[in-house]
Amino acid sequence: MTAEPRVRPERDGDPVAEVVRAAFADEGDHVAALWAELAASDLLLGSLVAEVDGQVVGHVGLSHAWVDARRELVDVWVLSPLSVVPDRQGAGAGTRLVEAAVAAARDGGAPLLFLEGDPGYYRPRGFERADRHGFAPATTRTPAPGFQVVRFETHEEWMTGQLVYPDIWWRYDAAGLRDPRLAEIEELLR
Ligand SMILES: CC(C)(COP(=O)(O)OP(=O)(O)OC[C@H]1O[C@@H](n2cnc3c(N)ncnc32)[C@H](O)[C@@H]1OP(=O)(O)O)[C@@H](O)C(=O)NCCC(=O)NCCS
Repeated sequence: MTAEPRVRPERDGDPVAEVVRAAFADEGDHVAALWAELAASDLLLGSLVAEVDGQVVGHVGLSHAWVDARRELVDVWVLSPLSVVPDRQGAGAGTRLVEAAVAAARDGGAPLLFLEGDPGYYRPRGFERADRHGFAPATTRTPAPGFQVVRFETHEEWMTGQLVYPDIWWRYDAAGLRDPRLAEIEELLR
């Protein structure tokens, strides 16, 4: 019988890049390189892995961004990337990683945790549409339903505005979507 996925902080030697590459397939090298830079920078807020039977099967990254509120810049957290190796998907590892990432952001005092992703996956796991709370995505190329947030106890009403990604995200062209994927998603949402 396969054991339940268990989430723990990343340790030296964990095959995180391999897990990210496997999960993101054609985009794997690109996403793994983005995460490697974020993880090596002072933007790193967390890196968690999911283990099954002693084998690392999944990973989630947490890093720093801002919300450009009228009063001041607000320090916020971003959940990305979320990866589970293809032959271990559908067994709860992704769900456990999202739960642990939300808990880490709450414990770390984050007012807000953002992500861009499929609402079909993230909404049942505690995320809400961010535009409904006055947040604007970092780019107009993020379809509104995919721009999502968890608001924590330390969030105050004035902490609203546009999400601002650090430079690394732009160097990797990792904000939002581009055509033809953007046009395909917009078509699906019509
Ligand atoms: C998305 C991902 C992390 C989910 O991990 P996982 O371990 O398979 O997830 P879980 O086992 O906890 O949950 C599986 C459930 O989510 C559903 N699911 C998976 N991807 C989904 C998606 N994009 N939209 C909606 N539901 C999705 C599955 O159908 C399954 O549903 P079921 O429980 O009703 O059968 C994994 O599929 C993955 O690594 N994908 C490639 C990389 C990626 O797209 N990452 C997210 C980028 S935002």
